[in-house]
Amino acid sequence: MKIALLGYGTVGKSVEALLAAHPAGIEIKKILRRAGKARGPLMTEDLEEILQDPEIEAVVEVLSGTEPACSYIRRALSAGKHVVSANKAALASDFPALLALAEEHGVSLLFEASCGGGIPWLESIKKAVLFDEITSLKGILNGTSNYILDSMDRFGLDFAEVLKKAQELGYAEADPTADIGGFDVYNKALISCSLAYGGPIETEFPVCGMEQLNKEILDRFHQEGKSLRLMMLSRREGSRYAVGVVPAVLPGGSIEANVRENYNCASFTGSVVGELKFYGQGAGGDPTADAVIQDLIQLRDHTQRPVRLSKKLIYDENLLTGTGYFADGSRREGTLAQLAAAAKEAGTFLAFECAL
Ligand code: HSE
Repeated sequence: MKIALLGYGTVGKSVEALLAAHPAGIEIKKILRRAGKARGPLMTEDLEEILQDPEIEAVVEVLSGTEPACSYIRRALSAGKHVVSANKAALASDFPALLALAEEHGVSLLFEASCGGGIPWLESIKKAVLFDEITSLKGILNGTSNYILDSMDRFGLDFAEVLKKAQELGYAEADPTADIGGFDVYNKALISCSLAYGGPIETEFPVCGMEQLNKEILDRFHQEGKSLRLMMLSRREGSRYAVGVVPAVLPGGSIEANVRENYNCASFTGSVVGELKFYGQGAGGDPTADAVIQDLIQLRDHTQRPVRLSKKLIYDENLLTGTGYFADGSRREGTLAQLAAAAKEAGTFLAFECAL
């Protein structure tokens, strides 16, 4: 199967290197690069050269940010190419419409690499919903924020110092405010919940980041035997659901509180299967490229699962109720939406504890 890469950053280079080492019957015919960056016979600056090549069956979109990536995905689908995307921001910006466009053109849009890096997280959700009703989702889905929290926790390191290290290791987004502000997890939550609940979810839901986290706040939780992790939290009852992104207060001995470095840990609960937990490297070139190649192998073998967002879902903030912890040490009960709004208005840090 011949493919093209759109983008040649950390993930694109890993896809190329992994396919060179293990070709898997997949050949890169073209690589789209930004103006002035194309070198050698494989590289081009012209997307049309790729879209009009009948030999290229699939394009792998490994750009970052919403545009031009989202337009490129639309153009590729409309040109009858399968698309494999690792770009959660582009996908989440128009998720139901992109899936509908793929269906309209009789091609597949696959995106395992967009959530949880190398973990088969979305694939497991797609498989679970064939029989089970998923009633909750939660997870550490951002490697950068986890790397920062873990390093602050275990080694007492300073926030800015560890963020720089995460950038050097290729975990952080080009603009790391998406990592620490919770917006990267927002994108992953939108994709995960839509698949798990079988319908489009509201694009507005609470997102609290950890920009204002400091050692003093972290120490206060430690003294109570608790820990923090930036998490997606979501619960569903029938057609109602709630979802949010927030630094979650966890018992120090819990699995999530002990997730280290750039690792992710996400779980869902199925009405039949119960809770399933998934753990692995959620960021970095090779783990993410591995997920891209898994999707390409499904296309090669025609084993991809169709995704349809056909259910009508209703956002109900009452499904996520718990305790909010503010930067000044005060606590309050409420829904995550209420507490997040209060924290935003006061311009302060919020951590949230709930049974999920
Ligand atoms: N910046 C992201 C993270 C990359 O740190 O998890 C993987 O999506």
